[in-house]
Amino acid sequence: MFKHIGVVGFGLMGTQIAQFFAQQGYEVVAVDSRKEALEKGMETIRNGRFGVMKLVEKGKISESDAEKVLSRIKTSLSYVDLKECDLIIEAVYEDLDLKLKVLREVSEICDAIIGSNTSSISITKLSSAVKDPSKFLGIHFFNPAQVQKLVELVEGLLTDKKLILEIKDWLSKLGKVPIVVKDSPGFATTRLGLILGKEAMLMLQEGIASPQDIDIAMMLGYGFAMGPIETGDLVGLDTRLRIYEAMFQMTKDPKWAPPKLLVQLVDAGYLGDPSVKPGSKGGVYEFYRQERATQLLKRLGIR
Ligand SMILES: NC(=O)c1ccc[n+]([C@@H]2O[C@H](COP(=O)([O-])OP(=O)(O)OC[C@H]3O[C@@H](n4cnc5c(N)ncnc54)[C@H](O)[C@@H]3O)[C@@H](O)[C@H]2O)c1
Repeated sequence: MFKHIGVVGFGLMGTQIAQFFAQQGYEVVAVDSRKEALEKGMETIRNGRFGVMKLVEKGKISESDAEKVLSRIKTSLSYVDLKECDLIIEAVYEDLDLKLKVLREVSEICDAIIGSNTSSISITKLSSAVKDPSKFLGIHFFNPAQVQKLVELVEGLLTDKKLILEIKDWLSKLGKVPIVVKDSPGFATTRLGLILGKEAMLMLQEGIASPQDIDIAMMLGYGFAMGPIETGDLVGLDTRLRIYEAMFQMTKDPKWAPPKLLVQLVDAGYLGDPSVKPGSKGGVYEFYRQERATQLLKRLGIR
């Protein structure tokens, strides 16, 4: 369906999305406003926890295939280099005004279909920044995007319904499992995930249980692959905080006010799991000095 994919914002999600499409054989142009993010992003795609060299180690791809994947990703500091792209995925910080500004600038340069990877912000509102809102939708990948099958497609008020179905079909052919939801703050996935994450943080704040025990409760009691505390560490605590703030800004509902502990952890430099979040002092697990629940259950041979 597409030939050249553009990614704007080469942070945690942008690098994963770029790698996913490059692994599928697409040419990718990745743009970030920070040179450091472009360098770190390429290093993550090469040697990170879900990077191509890990696939080589596991015998899933050859070294020359890994080099081919890397060579398909071009990085740039300028939106002008997105000109040839026919699909652009926006993955900058979860901040309404920033996203509106970036989308306005990108849309002036390119005629591409644009998808936002936003976790929560109204697709209809974001579509007001682009030239053709019928060619704008939410394409919400999950972390790690190279591995996770789920993609949440979000239909804004003006999104072309046929386009959503075409993208759903295309992503299915690439091995993803897309779901389609109507535009609403937090869509389906974030709305549920954030409530669970908030209750888990409040339980920590109140001293009800440890991070490990809260996560084990959801893993073994409810069949989750990963508990809410570890999920928050993986998402990035700073990104989680921005998502609560965006939800609160949109809905004015106090239920989305960020938990105090989350705000304090981010203020103190705990930005999430350091293996996926460069420069972070750690996540909730490092702060509480506990072994992650997934590691513990694996070590005990339970999962
Ligand atoms: N972290 C997750 O698990 C996750 C999962 C699904 C969706 N999301 C969503 O994906 C988006 C990105 O999240 P992330 O976790 O990758 O954030 P991140 O902080 O890791 O990366 C954001 C990147 O955007 C770049 N950026 C900022 N301003 C820019 C500009 N004007 N032009 C170009 N680049 C710019 C930053 O330099 C940074 O590299 C957010 O909307 C978030 O809600 C995150």
